Amino acid sequence: MIVEGQAQRTIWVDRDGWSVNIIDQTRLPHRFEVVTLRTLEQAAHAIQAMLVRGAPLIGATAAYGVCLAMRQDFGDAALGNACDRLLSTRPTAVNLRWAIDEMLAALYTVPKAGRVEAAYARAAEIADADVETCRQIGVHGLPLIEQAAAVHPGRAVNILTHCNAGWLATVDWGTATAPIYMAHEAGIPVHVWVDETRPRNQGASLTAWELGQHGVPHTLIADNAGGHLMQHGLVDLCIVGTDRTTATGDVANKIGTYLKALAATDNGVPFYVALPSTTIDWRLENGFDIPIEQRSGEELSHVTGRTKWGESVTVRITPKETPVRNDAFDVTPARLVSGLITERGVAEASREGLVALFPEHG
Ligand code: MRU
Repeated sequence: MIVEGQAQRTIWVDRDGWSVNIIDQTRLPHRFEVVTLRTLEQAAHAIQAMLVRGAPLIGATAAYGVCLAMRQDFGDAALGNACDRLLSTRPTAVNLRWAIDEMLAALYTVPKAGRVEAAYARAAEIADADVETCRQIGVHGLPLIEQAAAVHPGRAVNILTHCNAGWLATVDWGTATAPIYMAHEAGIPVHVWVDETRPRNQGASLTAWELGQHGVPHTLIADNAGGHLMQHGLVDLCIVGTDRTTATGDVANKIGTYLKALAATDNGVPFYVALPSTTIDWRLENGFDIPIEQRSGEELSHVTGRTKWGESVTVRITPKETPVRNDAFDVTPARLVSGLITERGVAEASREGLVALFPEHG
């Protein structure tokens, strides 16, 4: 996608041929800063501290983390330890385990001396495949926006999204945003309601930034405003991402997604979830078995922003002694999901719907 008029991905191998560049998303929207990862520990830290985040990008970064580990030591023990370290970073997005499994499968079969080269080759494939997968999500999601546009000729299609399931959460295109970018490029007028997405504000700081860079009309709204806008006919459809979707179509996504799905259902607004198949956990039947990440209470008790003098400051907004609980994700039951937009088409949110598109998992 576009930053300052230039095409940009979220992760790429440096000109030196081995170190890995990422965009430090904790600095956005105020600073566009590229960070270079040179060790396994730096890659693990980047995922854990959320310099990179979003299910598909976590997976791609983990793949490159294995590459960096192999440069340090390509033995079996080092490979196992590297995978364990990366898997310990964040629990909910299943793309992390998927990418690690892919790397293990690629590396165990090659002679140890060839592991570094094989690791970089597989990581590059994973990153490139993510771009194409997200593009296909766009292709399959576009007709949903076209249909909404046909119902209201002459006005923009209003799409509500939560958190950041944009290109910053993937290698490129995004999941929820891919159909939106495609509609925008096809000249269909779209307007995005961007949930701020407390507590880390990925909507306010990341989705608003990337839509703005790409020239897509959007408006930031408070997390609690979506239901009200739906009641007033101001939302045509919702499209969100997911960190893990069960084989039966239950969807874990950023905390607050479930409330939007409830409001959408109550108001007859279609509620779509966009995802690459790497986000489906075929082993799970029940969304409530998805591990929900618990994050630091400081994300709630403090906010960080930029003063008018350009200084970045973090301030407390609660009494010092207030206890805080910070569940990072929630689960939206399949019954509230109108459809799952995947790289192979739009599936009904059910085992039958998913297996019809992915018969190899039947
Ligand atoms: O905690 P985050 O910022 O990693 O959460 C990200 C989300 O919830 C996204 O919506 C999800 O990963 C889908 S990304 C295409």
